[in-house]
Amino acid sequence: MNPIGVKIRAVGSYAPEKILTNEDFERMLDTSDEWITSRTGMKRRHISAPEQASSDLGIEAARIALQRANLTPQDIDCYVVASATPDYIFPATSAIIAAKLGATDKPAFDMEIGCSGFIYGLTVCAGLIRGGVHKRVMLIGAETLTKFTNYEDRGTSILFGDGAGAAILEASEIDSFLSSDLGSDGSNPAILLLPTGGSRERVTQAAIDAKRDMIYMNGREVFKFAVTKMIQSTARALEKAGLTKEQCNFLIPHQANKRIIDAASKYLEMPPEKVLVNIQEYGNTSCASVPLALDEALQGGKIHPGDIIVFVGFGAGLSWGAVTWRWQ
Ligand code: UT7
Repeated sequence: MNPIGVKIRAVGSYAPEKILTNEDFERMLDTSDEWITSRTGMKRRHISAPEQASSDLGIEAARIALQRANLTPQDIDCYVVASATPDYIFPATSAIIAAKLGATDKPAFDMEIGCSGFIYGLTVCAGLIRGGVHKRVMLIGAETLTKFTNYEDRGTSILFGDGAGAAILEASEIDSFLSSDLGSDGSNPAILLLPTGGSRERVTQAAIDAKRDMIYMNGREVFKFAVTKMIQSTARALEKAGLTKEQCNFLIPHQANKRIIDAASKYLEMPPEKVLVNIQEYGNTSCASVPLALDEALQGGKIHPGDIIVFVGFGAGLSWGAVTWRWQ
């Protein structure tokens, strides 16, 4: 029996038209372009329109990926969405996307792992293909974080943007998936959470007035955790793949803060030309940030067959993970 490998056949991404710049924030809050740029590396974020939900962004990215792969929605065996901002608690955003694309009989499920969703998603989707369950899976990271952003809080509002990225994974004779290192520590969810709207705390007027239906984050704690886990998980994923950091051609990290990326890359001795950063254009788009950066690199002709890529992410949960991938 031949073992089944997996590859990424095509990628697509989408970001809404409306842009919020650091200068816009200067007019809204007690902040400055200098503070935001030096503390985060961010300059602009794309903001979804009021009528745009995460599925609408995901559909745009998925359509582009399908077009590039020359495939129809029916050619996809399973739809998976990674999102911290799904359309609803239920039903699954993936089912909505599949149906709107025209596939109403395919398996579809969502993954909610904070900003680590796309990294976990790569692992799960590769597993479905390598295990022989499906031949072709669409993985979509889609987020509308700005709908859950408290624009009175200067510590969080400047960080988040909206966007989506989609990757079509399919069976392959050569295996692109080399390793995965995933983790979680749910002992203190309050570090980064959306307090109300789930089964723990219902939406009441008092909760809305207290902005408990918006993102809450202890930035300093998340920062320390993010640097540590980005370093550990990247190192472990490379070790599991039997590779050295020198053999890694590209690190594609979750884009949460340029200082987090710089601190971890420095420790990992990854030179800047190997570390893909587009945070200046999108801000933190959670599960969409890694596929947005991957798509940009592919469209820019940066990535070539044989290149070793480490995708690494971290976020609410707390959760973290890294996947080592050989591009083909
Ligand atoms: O997707 C995964 C989840 N998110 C992350 O990974 C984010 C992780 N955390 C961070 O990126 C950083 O902690 C932040 C960018 C959120 C904040 O940067 P920081 O360097 O950790 O700042 P801080 O929270 O320690 O605040 C330093 C100062 C404070 O003033 P005081 O108390 O020293 O007077 C803040 O009030 O900066 C102030 N501050 C601001 N000043 C101007 C906080 N936000 C702003 C702002 N403009 N937007």
